[in-house]
Amino acid sequence: MSESPRNIVRHEGVISRQDRERLLGQRGCVAWFTGLSGSGKSTVARAAEELLTQAGRFVYVLDGDNVRHGLCSDLGFSDADRTENIRRIGHVAALLADAGAIVLTAFISPFRQDRAQVREVVGENEFLEVFVDAPIDVCESRDPKGLYKKARAGQIPEFTGITSPYEPPEQPALRLPTGQLSLAECAASVQDMLTQKGFLSPPAT
Ligand code: ADX
Repeated sequence: MSESPRNIVRHEGVISRQDRERLLGQRGCVAWFTGLSGSGKSTVARAAEELLTQAGRFVYVLDGDNVRHGLCSDLGFSDADRTENIRRIGHVAALLADAGAIVLTAFISPFRQDRAQVREVVGENEFLEVFVDAPIDVCESRDPKGLYKKARAGQIPEFTGITSPYEPPEQPALRLPTGQLSLAECAASVQDMLTQKGFLSPPAT
């Protein structure tokens, strides 16, 4: 048990993360998808979720547009709010990975420093950064939610890639150029990465 200055004491259970992972036959991890709005993060995460679930894996997707309705409904799109958004999601993702899930997250998460913080919370070896890489002109031509059009018309302040920055990963575990690969190829690449890194096998005892 560790002590805290606020009189909050951590409890450890009898069942370990490894026990849960053995039960599930997989290792908990977080595949953290980052990229511009419209780059394909949610679409690829959902396709990978389907592929992995069909293969008998326990997968959970955390998605920007959904989480912002509940857990992060008090947050907007200022730099500080985005940082807080990613901090909260990072902790939720870490808890789910601790439960043994393969967590796929789909957030713009534009700041390198925020993603580095999540890596620390989740654990260096269990955090896999996936760069969903589509240039802004491609995202803008897709414009699935009509947001680029609004942003260009000055109706959405601080819009990522236009009036708010996006810092691409420097060394992602996986880069998915969604303008060049099919959806099935992207989902298969995610599955291959997880296989190669050993997350789809039980932990070594
Ligand atoms: S993040 O920057 O904090 O990681 P998050 O992924 O949760 O963002 O939410 C991004 C989604 O919110 C976008 O896909 C888009 O649908 C919507 N959105 C609304 N306003 C903005 C904005 N100013 N910048 C980017 N996305 C926005």
